Amino acid sequence: MIPPKQVQEILDATRIEDVVEDFVTLKRRGVNLIGLCPFHGERTPSFNVNPARNIFKCFGCGKAGDAITFLKEHENLTYPEALRWLARKYNIEIQEIERSPEQMAEAQLADSLYIVNDFGLQHFQKQLFDTDEGKSVALAYFRKRGLREEIIRAFGLGYAPDERDLLLRQAKSQGYSLDLLKKVGLCSQDGSRDFFRARVMFTIHNMSGKVAAFAGRTMSSEKTIPKYINSPETEIYVKNKILYGAFQAKKAIRQLDECLLVEGYMDVISLYQAGIENVVASSGTSLTEGQLQLIRRNTSNLKILYDGDPAGIKAALRGLDLALEQDLNVKICLLPDGHDPDSYVQEFGGEAFTKYTTENAKDFIFFKTDLLLEETKGDPIKRAGLVKDIVGSIAKIPDTIKRSVYLRECSTLLEVPEQALYSEANKLITNTLKKKEEKAARQPSAASDVPPAAPPMWGGDEFFPPDIGAYFPPSEAGEGFPEFESQQKPAERKSGEEYQERDIVRLLILYGMQILPEENITVGEYVLSDIEESLGDFDNALYGKIAKECHALLVEGKVFDQHYFIQHESGEVANLAIDLLAEPWEFSPNWEAMWNYPLQNQPMPERNFTLDMRQSLDRFKLRKVQKMCALNLARVQTASKSGDHEAMMRFMKIQQKLNETRNEIALRTGTVVLAK
Ligand code: CTP
Ligand code: MN
Repeated sequence: MIPPKQVQEILDATRIEDVVEDFVTLKRRGVNLIGLCPFHGERTPSFNVNPARNIFKCFGCGKAGDAITFLKEHENLTYPEALRWLARKYNIEIQEIERSPEQMAEAQLADSLYIVNDFGLQHFQKQLFDTDEGKSVALAYFRKRGLREEIIRAFGLGYAPDERDLLLRQAKSQGYSLDLLKKVGLCSQDGSRDFFRARVMFTIHNMSGKVAAFAGRTMSSEKTIPKYINSPETEIYVKNKILYGAFQAKKAIRQLDECLLVEGYMDVISLYQAGIENVVASSGTSLTEGQLQLIRRNTSNLKILYDGDPAGIKAALRGLDLALEQDLNVKICLLPDGHDPDSYVQEFGGEAFTKYTTENAKDFIFFKTDLLLEETKGDPIKRAGLVKDIVGSIAKIPDTIKRSVYLRECSTLLEVPEQALYSEANKLITNTLKKKEEKAARQPSAASDVPPAAPPMWGGDEFFPPDIGAYFPPSEAGEGFPEFESQQKPAERKSGEEYQERDIVRLLILYGMQILPEENITVGEYVLSDIEESLGDFDNALYGKIAKECHALLVEGKVFDQHYFIQHESGEVANLAIDLLAEPWEFSPNWEAMWNYPLQNQPMPERNFTLDMRQSLDRFKLRKVQKMCALNLARVQTASKSGDHEAMMRFMKIQQKLNETRNEIALRTGTVVLAK
């Protein structure tokens, strides 16, 4: 293990531009450096490196992070591997320390499933390459199917001979635990037999290349024997989140900005061997949302290759609206009768395959329209259903421009006036939105765009003493102060108190460890002690979680910094950190494109983080006090209605105190905001 002090030393020495420049040519542009993004194919540079913040961000594909993220993604390194890579680069000699027995146990537990699977892979490979039976039976089978040795190795293919417990015996003799072998499904649940027998083996890797599971294919054509059997689901093998071949295909998918989807393991391997590397398989099931997200992270272009019969294809199309919802551009390509991708590429080669699929791929919406049109020929009732079906798919597309293009095209194809399609689509979209809002309303903590409902103001209730109104100027009826609102970009307007909460989290992530000169404590300490009582009342769960985590770290005397958040184990936290760090320069690409003038004179907030911090804290507190005011006012009203004068007086006293506090903060923020 690398000692924490040295980790810090490595991180301190690291400069993002040094690291990126080992792989990408960068040019200076204003305060940033800019180049062609290595994570997706592009001709005009949108890959930005910000030396001051020590982070990179691609405005094309959205990839962002620090030097460690870059190395993890670009070079497929793990966290410790990335640190070692950096240490080598900056000539820092690492003095590794031994792990304690507890640390060992913990790490082993976490990695144990992978370790057992690694053993499985080695076992199956040894059986394939180093035994006579393996060579004459399994290797011969793969060769007969046209696979070369280097591809057989690259995909981790192997062989499980027809023996009762060969793997089990060897695993036990090498000290692997029977429980773990059962858990990953390498042996039967009673622990007496190997699970995979008399099969050629396929290794299923996760996105970072670790062995998640296996599939075994029988070499017999006997119909009663299942063609494939698979490892069971485990913590490391969640079927609907894994795509076969994704690890090997990742790089090519980004470079070509397209992902090909096929059905079978053999299809992936044959295509890859023929030089078509951007290919993954759904493993014979319909695509899940998790798998689509996996694709979406690497490209927005998906080409699906089908070899089935029309009925099967129609069923498969139904699931594809999910892909449209993810804003993927989906194309469909049917292979000629009797061919699957594997047989086609083995017979005609990679170039012919690419030519065929390029010429024959059809946009999903048009493909579906044509297919259904064919079916409903001469049947007006079915035709009406078809129109609804197609518009239903189009309505799922989040991008309005794309949507209108499809509506226009389909109006011609379907011979239905464009306007009719529009109103049908709008109806569907409105319905979906309504459903979403209802759902959000049922979950009170979830963000809704309406500020917390303020109780009715004095106007409606005669009994109400008029002087209370003086504390509640009408402008405040849930609207917030105009100065604050105008500071928010419309696109990221957060509901209710979330904007203020996000601001607190921004302070913690950006300057948490900076020392406040006047106070001689860190920004993190100042902020968290100031809002300690509100830590449990965050409206937004994520922001609240981060604030609490920072608080807990401070209590334990630990530090957190930008790096801590970017490499956070929760992807949600890491993404938020990147977003916050990248925010001030989000403007510049558009700005520069429009005015050809870099935004160098945009003041960096870190120049004045003391003022920034006080403003954020005040806004946060003001919101909290406003909420308390509204709640207490409701109490006053209830008490007055029920004639409980004693309670009413008590609540009114509280109200007065709250109002004073609120006015005090409002005055202060007003001053600060105006003085800006
Ligand atoms: N599949 C499965 N179990 C089966 C049949 C199929 O899990 N009994 C999955 C496998 O992931 C397989 C995919 O569905 O790869 C597609 O099936 P198929 O086209 O029959 O298999 P191929 O991989 O093409 O295998 P081969 O070319 O050897 O027939
Ligand atoms: Mn096949």
